[in-house]
Amino acid sequence: MDIPQVELGFLPTPLHYLPRLTRALGGPEIWIKRDDQTGLATGGNKTRKLRLLVAEALAQGADTLVTGGAIQSNHARQTAAAAAQFGLECHLILRGEAPTTPNGNLLLDYLLGAHIHWVDSKEAMHATLPTVAEALREVGKQPYVIPYGGSNGLGAAAYALAVAELLRQMPAPDFFDAVVFPSSSGGTQAGLVAGAHIFGLKGEILGISVDEPASHLAERVARLAQDAAAVLDVDMSVDPSQIRVDDTFRGGGYAVVSDLEREAIRTLARLEGILLDPVYTGRAFGGLIRLVRRRRWQAGQRILFWHTGGIPALFAFAQELMSGE
Ligand SMILES: Cc1ncc(COP(=O)(O)O)c(C=O)c1O
Repeated sequence: MDIPQVELGFLPTPLHYLPRLTRALGGPEIWIKRDDQTGLATGGNKTRKLRLLVAEALAQGADTLVTGGAIQSNHARQTAAAAAQFGLECHLILRGEAPTTPNGNLLLDYLLGAHIHWVDSKEAMHATLPTVAEALREVGKQPYVIPYGGSNGLGAAAYALAVAELLRQMPAPDFFDAVVFPSSSGGTQAGLVAGAHIFGLKGEILGISVDEPASHLAERVARLAQDAAAVLDVDMSVDPSQIRVDDTFRGGGYAVVSDLEREAIRTLARLEGILLDPVYTGRAFGGLIRLVRRRRWQAGQRILFWHTGGIPALFAFAQELMSGE
């Protein structure tokens, strides 16, 4: 299990109970794992993945990190911060148009010194990653391309290791009945699934899909879980039918903020003083609140919400979030 990692961010992240939220919802105990506190330029789930990915980049002699994402990508911002910390150049291929005044994650990308390349679609972003890398090679750079969301076997393996960290914080491996979190490129969920298998975490691993249909996401998660286990030298076979994804909270699509996210963000902020983001954790926590209200779990059970970060995006969604105030 000795995978090379760089020192990035601060681990372990806290695990704690949410007493006021639990009382307000009147169902199972709700706990939270604070990966919004990983400490890398405001934190988030990509910090763990980058510890492994940057180690591989450095081992390969890379001097430049290249990755892509949405205009408000948390992954892009944490990659830019990781690059800065290790003296690497950073190129980000972002979907959208350069705004006159950058805000949220994009503002931080600029402050962290990243070079931004604009594209108009997800497909163009995927196609541009190798093109930018090739252009960098032609001018003598050694680029290391990090896939979308940092989600390959190596990136996902970071979340298998996170399960070992969680288990060290838990009184017993069956303490939680379910672990709930946002799932998008699938690396976080894949790592949690692989880690639960390898280290013996009990309970349901339930990904709330942010944008993908459940069948599509479950297939990707199953494949990535196997890849993550292989990185850790464990032979594991996972069928997509074993992967739990709830895709019913996708609303109007990726980054379309609705009452679900607004209510979730205000509820956790006002009851516990904890911020969620508008795109990922707001949606997943909104889903969790609805599932508790529908009595999916009972009083006496314990549910863990794994906070995956994303806070800077709040500032880019001020208008949507102030609606109804
Ligand atoms: C804040 C936040 N939560 C969750 C996710 C989803 O994680 P994954 O891509 O590993 O499924 C992301 C990915 O971009 C994210 O930025």
